[in-house]
Amino acid sequence: MSQRPSPPNAFDDAVQANATEQAGRPGFPLVQAWQGLDLAGIRRHLVAALRAAGIDEAEDDARFMIGHVLEPVSLAQALADAALWSWQDAARLADLAALRLRRVPLSQVLGSKPFWTLDLKVTGDVLTPRADTEALVEAVLGCCGNAPLHMLDLGTGSGAILAALLSERPAWTGQGIDLSPAALAVAQQNIDACALTPRAQLAQGRWGEALRDHSFDLVVSNPPYIVREVLAGLEPEVRDHEPALALDGGEDGLDAYRVIIADLPRLLRAGGWFALEIGYDQGAAVLALAEAAGLTALECRPDLAGLDRVVLGQALAANG
Ligand SMILES: C[S@@+](CC[C@H](N)C(=O)[O-])C[C@H]1O[C@@H](n2cnc3c(N)ncnc32)[C@H](O)[C@@H]1O
Repeated sequence: MSQRPSPPNAFDDAVQANATEQAGRPGFPLVQAWQGLDLAGIRRHLVAALRAAGIDEAEDDARFMIGHVLEPVSLAQALADAALWSWQDAARLADLAALRLRRVPLSQVLGSKPFWTLDLKVTGDVLTPRADTEALVEAVLGCCGNAPLHMLDLGTGSGAILAALLSERPAWTGQGIDLSPAALAVAQQNIDACALTPRAQLAQGRWGEALRDHSFDLVVSNPPYIVREVLAGLEPEVRDHEPALALDGGEDGLDAYRVIIADLPRLLRAGGWFALEIGYDQGAAVLALAEAAGLTALECRPDLAGLDRVVLGQALAANG
């Protein structure tokens, strides 16, 4: 009769000694599967599991999750020195991995996402800030100077655009509006963490409807713009874990633009700027809405992939 082999290392001893206490944790089955493995083996197992779950960026995601658990120790250091990796680290990693294997976005698993020069808190209550949106930040910085200016971010979500612009322009102040109180709570934490509290005010509202006439020099927005029937076919990370309110642009994806653009001439001061993020195929439709609203100096700017991403323009100057 074969004898059960004794645990080969301290990691396995610790997993077995703490099994009862750990059993309820989401990552416990993974920790058990990792017995007998060193960090390099755990990393290989994790990458394979992520790939099997349909995650294309499996290697990157594994690296980010391991890095998050190890901080401030680097992956290279921990691979070279087993003493820098404990079973508690493995248990924490396994909990993160269990979420990611359920296709929770990496930003929500780690709790933050880099955007522009900032590291922003992210939860399931906000859209994860996208690199595409940096094209809007760049376009605005390119056309508005450093002079004092009061801006409005409609649908501020995590506060990403507002925080990025105010962090670049110390003389600017701004207001962020969102319909979701839960999103606003995240935005407030980001504004506070970026030390922008004195210059940024957040409020719940339906687009610009409660705001005073001609009170902004600049209005920006990345509204929900996905065509409703496309939503069901999106990646599970987006479809199942990001707020529908942040995604659903209605039957043709343009519902929010119709409301926001029609209100821009009222919200903007004479000659004030606006910048709207758009889907890659919405340039012509959004430009037509802006032209119909009497806005001027209209242009479409691309993102880094060369796709239409931002519609920019101005309210008529007072004598225009
Ligand atoms: C695509 S997300 C953009 C979030 C953030 N500005 C960004 O770029 O990462 C759109 C945001 O608009 C908000 N929103 C949707 N409908 C709204 C409405 N009627 N009034 C105000 N905000 C709304 C959503 O809650 C969501 O936070």
